[in-house]
Amino acid sequence: MKIAMVGSGYVGLVSGACFADFGHDVVCIDKHPAKIEKLQAGIMPIYEPGLEALVEGNVKAGRLSFTTDLGEGIKGAKAIFIAVGTPSRRGDGHADLSFVHAVAREVGQCLANDAVVVTKSTVPVGTGDEVERIIAASGTAHRFAVVSNPEFLREGAAIGDFKRPDRIVIGAEDEFGREVMREVYRPLFLNESPILFVNRRSSELIKYAANAFLATKITFINEMADLCERVGADVQDVARGIGMDKRIGGKFLHAGPGYGGSCFPKDTLALLKTAEDFESPVRIVEAVVKANDSRKRAMGRKVVEALGGADAARGKKIAMLGLTFKPNTDDMRDSPAIAIAQTLADAGVAVAAYDPEGMEQARPLMPGVTMCDSPYAAIEGADAVVIVTEWDAFRALDLDRVKALARVPMLVDLRNIYKPDQVCAAGFEYVSVGRG
Ligand code: UDX
Repeated sequence: MKIAMVGSGYVGLVSGACFADFGHDVVCIDKHPAKIEKLQAGIMPIYEPGLEALVEGNVKAGRLSFTTDLGEGIKGAKAIFIAVGTPSRRGDGHADLSFVHAVAREVGQCLANDAVVVTKSTVPVGTGDEVERIIAASGTAHRFAVVSNPEFLREGAAIGDFKRPDRIVIGAEDEFGREVMREVYRPLFLNESPILFVNRRSSELIKYAANAFLATKITFINEMADLCERVGADVQDVARGIGMDKRIGGKFLHAGPGYGGSCFPKDTLALLKTAEDFESPVRIVEAVVKANDSRKRAMGRKVVEALGGADAARGKKIAMLGLTFKPNTDDMRDSPAIAIAQTLADAGVAVAAYDPEGMEQARPLMPGVTMCDSPYAAIEGADAVVIVTEWDAFRALDLDRVKALARVPMLVDLRNIYKPDQVCAAGFEYVSVGRG
């Protein structure tokens, strides 16, 4: 089957490459010529493990190509995916749908055969209706259906998530849409991945509800971590203890500096906006957004405390290990590291940082921070080493070397990747999250 993927960003590129790997004939379309030229030359616009090889293999096999020409790209495609960005609109947090609508208009004008138009971008409830209206208004003579098919890809694990999903959600209003989507996902059908067919509005809401629920789970355990510190409990034991209850589940209960990234912050805000528009408040999510926002700066204050409080901290220097919002990505969007560095700068603390993939993206967002070539270069002369992102490279630091390089042996582990007794036995003072 020929598939067109409009939008060759993170979601479009990963999805397109995986569909090609399933044996479909995929054209990825993007209006930015520079991006398409790079992709044609085999250069990935993002860092995602396994993606470059997957793209290269499928381009070589003749199943994957790239173009800026939407009309040409969608010709003969039975499924046309919309995978363009839906950033938070300035001012009100609503998802900005202008790119989605623009693609719908162009698809309507260029449609040369019957096709199913599939929204993969994360879009508020009712967007499918609007896309359908826009395409119909183009006066196309071809049969089309508009389907919702949200993605649940985690950065850093996106290819695995695509090929072995917990579920595939399809929101379709008619049999034509369902039939084409069954064909698109046939390889996963054969793998017995569960496919859930629902109506379009339910599918659109599932995506937001899933992300808001996960953000809630993280925020819940983060607040439990604060409480653990007060009452002398250990948040990792609490997480294990509640997670063994199958109704709760053990995943997404790692306490840390707060969630960031391209999805949770944006999607929780967009859900709040939808809830407001429909006069049906989701107060839990309102609380989650507030708690997560204030947590990031609170983590900066935690570091200041570890340095001896506001007066003692002024003029000191810390090594920040990890800048991206999570490991295995170069994505800095809403990373806690940004707010933590800002809080430290406000407190007069100098920050030297190292991240395996994120420094280029981080530089313009963290102007006062000195970027270093290695964790040990950042640690030299530091009054505290602060782990913000749990990259594997930081899990087994040479603690003797760290101790020799740092001015003070103090480790602030905001991801709880070290065992307190081991670090203390190595002669460090150790501060972590929710572990007394
Ligand atoms: C998320 C969803 O998981 C994915 O299904 C959706 O489609 C896009 O958004 P992603 O943003 O890539 O994916 O990362 P994820 O691994 O979910 O982590 C999000 C944030 O939560 C990170 O900042 C991470 O550090 C934080 N997190 C996650 C925690 O603090 N604790 C946890 O237990 C899990």
